[in-house]
Amino acid sequence: MKSIIRSFFVFCFLSTNVFSQNALFIPDTLSGTTFNLDVQNGIRQFIGSNNTPTYGYNGNFLGPTLLINKGDSITLNVTNSISQSTTVHWHGFHVAAMNDGGPHQIILPGTTWSPSFKMRNEASTFWYHPHGEAKTEVQVSKGLAGMIIVRDSTEATYALPRKYGIDDFPLIVQSKAFDVLYQFAVANHEDTVLMVNGTRDPYLQVPQQVVRLRLLNGSSDRTFNFGLADNSNFYLIGSDGGLLSAPYLTNRVRLSTGERAEILIDFSAYTLGTQIYLKSYASELPRGIIGADSVGTSTIVIQEGYYSNFLNGVDFDLLRFDVSPATASPVTTIPLTFNPKVPLLEVNADVNRSIHFSPDTATSGIQGYVDGPFLMNDSSFNFDSINIIVNLNDIEIWQLTNSTMVAHPFHIHDIEFYVLDINGLPPPPEYQGLKDVILVKPNDTVRFITQFTTFSDPMVPYMYHCHLLHHEDDGMMGTFLVIDSTTIGINENIVFDDAVSLFPNPTKNNITIEFLNAVNSDQKKISVINILGEKIYSTQTTENKIKLDMEKWAPGVYVFQIQLEGKVINKKIIKQ
Ligand code: C2O
Ligand code: CU
Ligand code: CU
Repeated sequence: MKSIIRSFFVFCFLSTNVFSQNALFIPDTLSGTTFNLDVQNGIRQFIGSNNTPTYGYNGNFLGPTLLINKGDSITLNVTNSISQSTTVHWHGFHVAAMNDGGPHQIILPGTTWSPSFKMRNEASTFWYHPHGEAKTEVQVSKGLAGMIIVRDSTEATYALPRKYGIDDFPLIVQSKAFDVLYQFAVANHEDTVLMVNGTRDPYLQVPQQVVRLRLLNGSSDRTFNFGLADNSNFYLIGSDGGLLSAPYLTNRVRLSTGERAEILIDFSAYTLGTQIYLKSYASELPRGIIGADSVGTSTIVIQEGYYSNFLNGVDFDLLRFDVSPATASPVTTIPLTFNPKVPLLEVNADVNRSIHFSPDTATSGIQGYVDGPFLMNDSSFNFDSINIIVNLNDIEIWQLTNSTMVAHPFHIHDIEFYVLDINGLPPPPEYQGLKDVILVKPNDTVRFITQFTTFSDPMVPYMYHCHLLHHEDDGMMGTFLVIDSTTIGINENIVFDDAVSLFPNPTKNNITIEFLNAVNSDQKKISVINILGEKIYSTQTTENKIKLDMEKWAPGVYVFQIQLEGKVINKKIIKQ
């Protein structure tokens, strides 16, 4: 017996570090009203002593936790020091479209993007990550992600743990795939390496008292079903957009990619020195959810790599808690209630919309029901198109339906929403707070209600998309404008078709704009907007073909907004 144990350990030591435990990394914090983030290249060893190329904000991997107070006017200076363009999206923030960091706010290598805005969201856990067109998964996987903690005066009145890194911990949970050269791999189902805050096989010393954990699923596609190894209960206190109406006693919290949850665990129930794991009970995930034992609702489709991934459908450990001495003046109680969350009333809705998820069977056949590419309302993401136009201040109900065989976490920018119902039933307690991501399982119908307040912009769109990063990059994303129709006379006149062609693109010196179906005498207006959303040029013409000199313009991305007979068309042009 002894020698078997010894050789087992020798084997483990040589082959992998799976039995070693590493202290959980706690990201540094940035606070105040000016935040400087530098997107950097790095190197880290995740697998033995092999080097893996990484990206990070202000470091090798992941980024600092931003601490922001509601009501503050903040500036974020994001410098791109890597060799490809990126964007930084403030996931969950209610900000103007030009400050949102979606695909249209491109940060070219060597440049700095500096959005300034007022922090309007209530206290909660948010995150920031890249959102470049077809680049999100590769950049997030390589390490670009960070947590944001927003605080406000309401949350401050509750007796909750809020000492960062002492009784209030960020937990960015991710599964990663590596290729044979120890580089991060994407667009496969081989994400077998688990990490929390970038630490493999982590442990965390937790004080023997009430501790707050901020869970973020920052994976590319895997859903986690969090629970404690002894199945004991904890309190779910917050979802994506802030505190629930009251703590909810449960022993599971399921998070799909992009979702957050805040939980309280009372470690005073354990003796000092107890080691207890936070696990994912993936065996309990219904099929169709990535991470469950099978995707697809039919046996005729297979998914390459999925069934050989040993994490799918099994329960596994994520983080070991080591119960340690309590701190001075610990939090020892759980609040009974918080400020009530009052959903908007369905009768007040101005607009009902449906978003339908389907496979692009034209290109992928039956296999497309699990592999994609997937469409939303039969269309794929197009940088230059607007899919939906919302009127400022409208209350809208969106109905999401999924006729694919995979669950998709639906995410929308700008606003937070209340779930009205899932398959006709009222949402369970964990979905009764403010949300910005909701998992829509195969054949599910989910309805939510929201109001599009504060910000309108007739040109710069927000995104809605699937938060499985591979699906998003593959085009499972749409755009919406919020427009103030009382000040701008464009509404249903915005067109989505190609009535104009701009070439060459990319260009070095000049651009030709040709109107394809227009009459020569028609009045055409051309405006050019830079990536900051500023109008830098405009002209009018009656010609069907004009040439613009761009020689003196800085290299970058420009949106050409063309108005023709009251219609508006946006085109992206890259100046080299
Ligand atoms: Cu977390 Cu549009 O993204
Ligand atoms: Cu977002
Ligand atoms: Cu999806």
